[in-house]
Amino acid sequence: MVFRDKFKNADHALTFNDVILLPGWTTIEPSEALVSSNASVNVKLNIPFLSSPMDTVTESEMAIALARHGGLGVLHRNCSLDEEVEMAKSVKRAEALIIRDVVTVDPDKTVEELLRMMEEHKIHGFPVVEANKKLVGIVTSRDIRLADPKLKARDVMTREVVTAGEDISLEEAKKILHKHRIEKLPIVDESFRVRGLITMRDITLKGTYPNALRDDEGRLICAAAISPFDLARAKSLDEYVDVLVTDVAHFHNKNCFDATKKLLKEISADLIVGNIGTYEAAEDCITKLDGIAGLRVGIGSGSICTTSVVTRAGAPTLYAVAQASDAVKEYGANLPVIADGGIRNPGDIAVALSVGASAAMMGNIFAGCTESPGTLVALEGRYYKEYYGMGSAAARRKRFAQDRYSKPSKSINEGVEGWVPYRGGVADIVAEFVGGLQAAMGYAGTKTIPEMWEKAKLAFVTEKGSQELLPHDVLLPRSKPS
Ligand code: XMP
Repeated sequence: MVFRDKFKNADHALTFNDVILLPGWTTIEPSEALVSSNASVNVKLNIPFLSSPMDTVTESEMAIALARHGGLGVLHRNCSLDEEVEMAKSVKRAEALIIRDVVTVDPDKTVEELLRMMEEHKIHGFPVVEANKKLVGIVTSRDIRLADPKLKARDVMTREVVTAGEDISLEEAKKILHKHRIEKLPIVDESFRVRGLITMRDITLKGTYPNALRDDEGRLICAAAISPFDLARAKSLDEYVDVLVTDVAHFHNKNCFDATKKLLKEISADLIVGNIGTYEAAEDCITKLDGIAGLRVGIGSGSICTTSVVTRAGAPTLYAVAQASDAVKEYGANLPVIADGGIRNPGDIAVALSVGASAAMMGNIFAGCTESPGTLVALEGRYYKEYYGMGSAAARRKRFAQDRYSKPSKSINEGVEGWVPYRGGVADIVAEFVGGLQAAMGYAGTKTIPEMWEKAKLAFVTEKGSQELLPHDVLLPRSKPS
């Protein structure tokens, strides 16, 4: 072995700022560029963005907001199993064609009790059922608003209930609700037992978010982070979510692989594995882990990461994407590659797509949204939200995601704690990033993400040159863009 060869054969671990997207011949306007993609083999995205599984980024509110706009939130795992399952359930409950956990009442409930239940559950009507769940009526706020509080449900309910069977489609449901001018349509089986409920409110929500990602039952698509070593959590979440994502700093590791092989036998959701950073890691995932559905790539590029500072180890996201995408292509594996870490603007995403990524995962950007869990703070007249790494002291104090890192590094922090500028709602960020990405695709002359893989060209930028690419020689009112 010649040590000097280690330099001779060394790769260039390029990062986003090292390259630029070259303008190409174009026949499209940016607004015609299509940004739909895949997060995993079976889960399509209408916008190619995922939010990171971090406890200052993705809980149910973020997952709901992002899925409504066509992206995917990955619920964090820095909490108890029950808490993570509850988050997944609330994403699935947020919008459904048929609500399954219907709140019903018995005929003897008083008007007074019904009013209290409406307040408590924040709903405006209940199917009335007998002990055997058989539907006998429906009571809505209109029936009880001015009624004597001592009256019973049976006295005020509508007895002639319009119902439908389990196989009803969205279009049929709309017609029935309109024809009878009703707000709620109970779904019953052949014995007239309540099996679900369709509401006008849920149908209206569907019209509000035409780009939303939904499963076969009309519920929002949901993803959740897991440890490969926590089979119980993976199995519990598997009942509710569409995608599971391993959340490990260095997945190319024998213990992770052995645990993942077991896990793959027990779950039915798509499994995205990571993080990985090299061709060899992607090759091993493809050849040794039968049944995986995607690769999460990039090590050490995250805005809150100190992994590479502490250990000098890492695989910058751009470099990692090119490595993994080549392995996927050469093995004909058809696995989406998700670029994770270091993304600051739509151009970084465009560059990642041009070397084979299907989508980008962002922590920093989404941490600044209204829908992230972090607290909003005002500092010197500007608003910020709390954001910290999963390897930071703050995240580790919660102790639920400790196995994200290797044993010795458990005593070393691999992340920092801080604040990111408040950016408004997810809808604003999505509009800004989709617009920016479409503009980049317009420059590259590509209409779709697969065309970005094939046609987009990159060039290197020197350190001096990158200064010229920033605003220069003008006095800026605020701080420079990073
Ligand atoms: P951005 O740049 O979007 O990156 O903030 C988010 C990604 O960073 C990873 N992550 C970490 N990496 N130490 C690390 O080395 C940490 O403490 C840490 N926390 C999160 C993760 O992949 C996330 O999606």
